[in-house]
Amino acid sequence: MAHQAPAKAGPGSPGDSGGQESGGRPPGPAPRPRAADRALRQRAASVIPGGMYGHQSAGPLPPEYPQFMRNGRGARVWDADGNGYVDLMCSYGPVVLGHQHPKVEAAARAQAELGDCQNGPGPVMVELAELLVATVRHADWAMLAKNGTDATTMCCTIARAQTGRNRILVARGAYHGAAPWCTPRPAGVTAADRANLGHYEFNDLDSARSAAGEAGDDLAAVLVSPFRHDAGYDQELVDPAFARGLRELCDATGAALILDDVRCGFRLHLGSSWEPVGVDPDLSAWSKAIANGHPLAAVLGGDRFRDGAASVFVTGSFWFSAVPMAAAIATITALGEEGALEAMERAGTALRDGIVAQAAAWGLEVNYTGPVQMPYLTFAGDRDHALGSLFAAEAVRRGAYIHPRHNWFVSAAMTAEDIDLVLAATDQAFAAVRERLGG
Ligand SMILES: Cc1ncc(COP(=O)(O)O)c(C=O)c1O
Repeated sequence: MAHQAPAKAGPGSPGDSGGQESGGRPPGPAPRPRAADRALRQRAASVIPGGMYGHQSAGPLPPEYPQFMRNGRGARVWDADGNGYVDLMCSYGPVVLGHQHPKVEAAARAQAELGDCQNGPGPVMVELAELLVATVRHADWAMLAKNGTDATTMCCTIARAQTGRNRILVARGAYHGAAPWCTPRPAGVTAADRANLGHYEFNDLDSARSAAGEAGDDLAAVLVSPFRHDAGYDQELVDPAFARGLRELCDATGAALILDDVRCGFRLHLGSSWEPVGVDPDLSAWSKAIANGHPLAAVLGGDRFRDGAASVFVTGSFWFSAVPMAAAIATITALGEEGALEAMERAGTALRDGIVAQAAAWGLEVNYTGPVQMPYLTFAGDRDHALGSLFAAEAVRRGAYIHPRHNWFVSAAMTAEDIDLVLAATDQAFAAVRERLGG
């Protein structure tokens, strides 16, 4: 298993002296005074709109969730009050090898000593582009940016520039970022921002064909995620025939097939997430895991879209910072060298088997969906997420950091001890759900 926290001396492990490295408590049902978090929330309320915003806002979550986190190491994180958790959200995806992976952080520090934000990118930009092209089958070139939204937006812009067409098809309910063309919240968005979008249903080829028919000769691209991971819904793996059908549709119409690998990229496969399915996109969007938590995004593409990619003006003040690029090279190298993909699959399988067995033992009907490395749990018939929220709150209270309405992320740093701690917490969380339902 890659980068395991030392079994005896690691933070939060038995025998840990109260967490010298972490300065916090080990995960578990410890008393959790939340004085620091409460004070920070109060101060934030007057200087940050809404007190917090975006996907990491704890506002919509049960009160058991801390808002502010202090540090992380391996598969453990600590909140501002020093409470420890086994981390099953991995910063909502960026952390794949575990927090503070030694080789990634050493590479980042070495680059930081040379320089980060300069008048031009470092040599690491070319090294990273070469590594990405060598690692991802459909990639003949790479462009780098900061966030997943940069990457999905760039893919659409490149597809339009190359094809001279306007319309982009997206799956209904899919998340591709927070820009006006794709944000799930309508505030501040104009009809013009969405004017060139068409919709299809994930895994429904007929609906994609019909949306393509409506777009006619204005179809620039079909955008799709590797599997259906819409927040709050049971996840759905891709039907390979659907993936192949989208490829054929794009080949027949000249549109670009864009794979949004922002959430799944380098978690399921060391290459595009559709390589095991046997379907290569023309363009792909990446971010989250590619630099193990350092801010970086990438667009990868094939030669057919190289001219379009070269023609668009896309940039940002921090897009060419060298530190995240050095971190990405170390991350991708470690993913391969340390067997991290296999480690995540093993840990995810142990977690799934344990949780599904617990649910059955408590007589609870659950849906545990998605790849084991990115699972999501719902309770049958729990449309308003009341049981899911209770379950998550009880798990968090006992030191297993999961989410009630978003898929979880398993990192390669999870040890057998981490899995045991999670299962101890989820068993008690199921007990609370059983009690709520009676019996
Ligand atoms: C599938 C997918 N695409 C795009 C994005 C947007 O990425 P970012 O939040 O880095 O802009 C996300 C973020 O969660 C995502 O999951």
